Amino acid sequence: LNTKKTVNERLLNICELLETNIKYYNWVGFYFRNGNKEELLLGPYVGAPTDHTVIPFGKGICGQVAVNNENFIVPDVTAQDNYIACSITVKAEIVVPIFVNGKNIGQIDIDSNTPNPFSKADEHFLEFICKKIAEIL
Ligand code: SME
Repeated sequence: LNTKKTVNERLLNICELLETNIKYYNWVGFYFRNGNKEELLLGPYVGAPTDHTVIPFGKGICGQVAVNNENFIVPDVTAQDNYIACSITVKAEIVVPIFVNGKNIGQIDIDSNTPNPFSKADEHFLEFICKKIAEIL
C-alpha cells in the first residue's frame, strides 16, 4: 500500500493548516502557471469556492504577481482597481510568488475577512513556506 502523499495532497494540507491556525487567513489557495501560457490555474485551496479557476497574466492581484514577481499585500481590496473579487466578505489579500530555479511558477494567495491584517511577518512567513514548497514541486 502506497501511503505517500501526492504534491496536491501536501499543498491542500498546507492550505488547511494555515486556514485553521491563523484566524485572519480565511481563504488559502495556490495558483500555478499553465505551462508556457500566460495564465494561472487554480490549484488546491480551502475556503469559499471561486469561479476564478483561470486568471490571465496581468489580471487581478494574482495576475499582477505573475508578471511582477513580487509579493503583493492589499490592505483594502476596495482601494484596488485591478482586483478580482471572489467573495464579498473579503477585505484584504496577500499573494506571494513561488520560485523554482529562479522562475515564478505560481503563488500562494490568501484572502482575509479582516481589514488590513497582513504585516511583514506574514510576508516573511509565507516566503519561507513558498521556498519549502518549491523543494517538493
Ligand atoms: N482576488 C484575486 C483573485 C483570486 S481569489 O482571491 C481566490 C485577484 O484579484 O487576483
